[in-house]
Amino acid sequence: MNTTTAISFQYIKNPAALNDAQRSQRLQAPGFGRVFTDYMATIKYSPDAGWHDAKIEPRTALSLDPATLVLHYAQEIFEGMKAYRLPDGRAALFRPNENAKRFRNSARRLAMPELPEAFFTEAVRRLVKQEDKWIPTEEGSALYLRPFMIATEAVLGVKPSTEYLFCVIANPVGSYFKGGDDGVSVWVSDTYIRAAVGGTGDAKCGGNYAASLAAHAEATQHNCDQVVFLDAVERTWIEELGAMNIFFVFKDGSIQTPPLTGTILPGITRASLIELATREGISVREEPYSIDAWQQDALSGEGVEAFACGTAAVITPIGNVKGRQHEFVIGDGRPGSTTLMLKEKLTQMQNGRRPDPFGWVEPIN
Ligand code: PLP
Ligand code: COI
Repeated sequence: MNTTTAISFQYIKNPAALNDAQRSQRLQAPGFGRVFTDYMATIKYSPDAGWHDAKIEPRTALSLDPATLVLHYAQEIFEGMKAYRLPDGRAALFRPNENAKRFRNSARRLAMPELPEAFFTEAVRRLVKQEDKWIPTEEGSALYLRPFMIATEAVLGVKPSTEYLFCVIANPVGSYFKGGDDGVSVWVSDTYIRAAVGGTGDAKCGGNYAASLAAHAEATQHNCDQVVFLDAVERTWIEELGAMNIFFVFKDGSIQTPPLTGTILPGITRASLIELATREGISVREEPYSIDAWQQDALSGEGVEAFACGTAAVITPIGNVKGRQHEFVIGDGRPGSTTLMLKEKLTQMQNGRRPDPFGWVEPIN
């Protein structure tokens, strides 16, 4: 357990910050990850000074030597979380300590120093407070926060950097998928895998996403929105769906999701849905599920719904599945009732429109 609790932040005003009218204009239909706020939070690390030089400062380009380690060997990790507007006007984060904890786990795997959880959450809270006016209010929208850390030492030897930059940027977001609420189509990749045991599948590092892009391009060539990744050894067991976890809903009302075996990112949405569904009286299994069983169950009517989940995509229904050996529709190809019920319960809780019996929603005062 890391016991470090406080770091002081220097505030630097942004003279180019947008005015209310300019901001309102940018907040119209922001999409995902294209519109950014005026400020960023940064903390530096060096062996002598440790974590130091914490700032809330104008969002600007980073200046990096061309030999900077992250540019060559991808020593980088990130997180994804959202700030929501509560009905009483306050902003709130959802389980921010879980992101802070996962960030430390990712750091350990990438041989980076572990940012104390209190520094991570403090940087995020201060940035959200600074950018309060950027939190959109339309249903389904939020202020997406992207904490990340890069290796900043300029050296070409393959080794862990001695110096790092932790940074948080923010962007107002609507829906991650255009039309995703109607059900996405997914491609079962038999060419590419995402992760193997002992690799970095359970860390949130940029390299995982770079390695997934060719698989995503293959899915697009087959007119699919996303990739279903199977396990690396048997090419049988369903692991993840693009940058999301995956759930299956059965005729008897139960739901199932692949277990965390080291190759799957331990999603905070996944963990929350397991608890939420259990509380709703739904039987939840964390058990392996094969691609052939999925096809068989979909065709026999035993499997009735499937959805992907993550912070960015929230809960996205899966409509149909294609692959070189597979082709089937989930239910009638439209979002099912369990998927919609869980999405409604989770999102309403996150934006304070439904009570939070778990203590997951943390208002920022
Ligand atoms: N799986 C991968 C590979 C992801 O990138 C994400 C997104 O962060 C998730 C699952 C879902 O995780 P979370 O629910 O914590 O956002
Ligand atoms: C998230 O759900 O927050 C993600 O990180 C997914 C993706 C945008 C990388």
